[in-house]
Amino acid sequence: MSLRRLSTLPGVVGTAWESTVSAQGKLAAGLAVAPSKMRCKVSPGIDTSPARFLTLEYLGADRAMAGEIVAHSHDGLSAHEIANEVDVRRQQVSGPFGKSLSRHRTTHAMSHVALWPPQFTADEATPDKARPARNGDRTMRMMFSAIALVLSSPALAQQAPPVDGAPATITVHGDKPAPKFDKRIFGQFAEHLGTGVYGGIWVGKGSRIPNINGYRTDVLDALKAIRTPVIRWPGGCFADEYHWREGIGAPAKRKVKINTNWGGVTEDNAVGTHEFMNYSEMVGAEPYVSGNVGNGTPSEMAEWVEYMTSPTGSSLAKERASNGRKAPWKLPMFGIGNELWGCGGNMRPEYAADVTRRYATFVKMPEGQRVMKIASGANADDYNWTDVMMRDAGGQFDGIGVHYYTIPYDWARKGAATGFDEDQWARTLAKTVKMDDYISEHAKRMDKYDPGKRVALMVDEWGTWYDQEPGSHPGFLYQQNSLRDALVTSLNFDIFARHTDRLRGANIAQMVNVLQAMMLTDGNRMVRTPTYWVFDMYKDYQDGVVLPVDVQSRWYNKNQWTLKAVSASAVRGADGAVHMGLTNVDPNQPATVSVKLDGVTGAGITGRILTASAIDAHNTFDAPDVVKPAAFNGATLANGTLTVTLPAKSIVMLDIR
Ligand code: AHR
Repeated sequence: MSLRRLSTLPGVVGTAWESTVSAQGKLAAGLAVAPSKMRCKVSPGIDTSPARFLTLEYLGADRAMAGEIVAHSHDGLSAHEIANEVDVRRQQVSGPFGKSLSRHRTTHAMSHVALWPPQFTADEATPDKARPARNGDRTMRMMFSAIALVLSSPALAQQAPPVDGAPATITVHGDKPAPKFDKRIFGQFAEHLGTGVYGGIWVGKGSRIPNINGYRTDVLDALKAIRTPVIRWPGGCFADEYHWREGIGAPAKRKVKINTNWGGVTEDNAVGTHEFMNYSEMVGAEPYVSGNVGNGTPSEMAEWVEYMTSPTGSSLAKERASNGRKAPWKLPMFGIGNELWGCGGNMRPEYAADVTRRYATFVKMPEGQRVMKIASGANADDYNWTDVMMRDAGGQFDGIGVHYYTIPYDWARKGAATGFDEDQWARTLAKTVKMDDYISEHAKRMDKYDPGKRVALMVDEWGTWYDQEPGSHPGFLYQQNSLRDALVTSLNFDIFARHTDRLRGANIAQMVNVLQAMMLTDGNRMVRTPTYWVFDMYKDYQDGVVLPVDVQSRWYNKNQWTLKAVSASAVRGADGAVHMGLTNVDPNQPATVSVKLDGVTGAGITGRILTASAIDAHNTFDAPDVVKPAAFNGATLANGTLTVTLPAKSIVMLDIR
């Protein structure tokens, strides 16, 4: 398709939503544009704004697709009318639990009016005579004219990605190392939620399930095997109602409460500060403790930190010793509340920033020690949250979170964890790679106030969120985990590798039995999920130096869902070897990849592969090894170029020594 044809787009926009643009190339601004399909999201401006506008942005796999075109609508259509005109799918605005509705309203309601104009090649495009133009077409015409304009750069023709069947090409820039892949990016999250803690890691000292001091041995060993670097605790939403004093002292005397966030079950506080901090030490992980800003006080928070860290002498240190722990624990990371815009207090960012300043002031460490104070971050694309927090409170914290969950459909009907079709495979993967844009955009807001990048961005909740398994306890968020989750993981690791200048931590939600878990347990049985195996395959990335990669790949499309077929990242590990993760998201076709290794020496290649016959293949207690890494010998190296064929729907980790 020629660029000329592209610029004729206004002539065909009457049917744009039934069409695809097979354009490829660069925006005038220097951003690469989606090739074979251009999918768009129309976000209405604030409904009440007199200067109504539409923001049109590219949705899709590649961060390079990020871009915004603002089209001014002079016809005064309301967002809703426009939505009807262009036949959008309006995602329902409802929270996973009623009281958090507002969090979704604040961050999703406007942006979840989506327009999908899929599927036409401009060569074939003709005006759809069968469909009369309607009011909204005018708006659409304006937007597509804008796209056509920016696409009319001569650079377009030079950026053609490989077409179907052609090999992907990757360049690894071993000579241009980027900031390290902080091991904290491999962090876990263990909330008092469902059987995440009770049953998942803690079974009690008297249990018949093999345990060490009450901690189940199988899970402990499996966490050690993947070198789990960080565990975040006790929440999540649970954290902003958690009072640490209820979880210390003789277990029989601890307060029994109701877990109001998750299933309304009793919480007997059997796992409290001592149990969690000791467990972190046993795993060899850093504890990331989230404090209670929601319904706790600054002094309660300050005393908790003192209780954990005070060397000796103070009353709190003596109390800790009398409860069995003389030496203070190390506390490298502390969260100033969680989701303050939602379950953490339904705060506006301006108020949350003030509250964060106040609480953070009283989080003090013993002389000579430092704790990383992490502010409660935004939900997904709520960039205003990050902006305001950085502007008003950025000097008071060392990190700020962001949470993004990959949900195939919407909060009301999320989609099943298994038994899904290819559309759901593709939509899940296409949605997960939005993480790239989200990180970029939050980082931009941070750059405004912190160009030196002192403050870290922490994706301290991420992962898939499906409808929980039929028959499981309501509110427990128990879901299966399939090959699709494995690819969600590897794609996110690739994205994280592109942002290590700002991104210094992440916590997958969650560690055991909850959401996108590493492990599932049932009584004395435990199974490692496909996600676990990706954490295992990529573990040599921890604290390795990122080697930037350029990936030219054909696109994988299913219905309106589009993403690059091949994704990759590379790291020079502490062992000196180069570790390169490659993912082929196409469930139907293999992908041949040619990798140019700039500044990388080494002749020996070993590898592992994770794949399975079905897109929803998963491990069960009866069949625990359906999705498990196997040795991979399919890579050859000649004259500094690596050639490898990735089977359909596979992840390959290569080690070059
Ligand atoms: O991970 C489950 C919940 O998701 C957490 O408690 C909360 O922070 C988020 O909304």
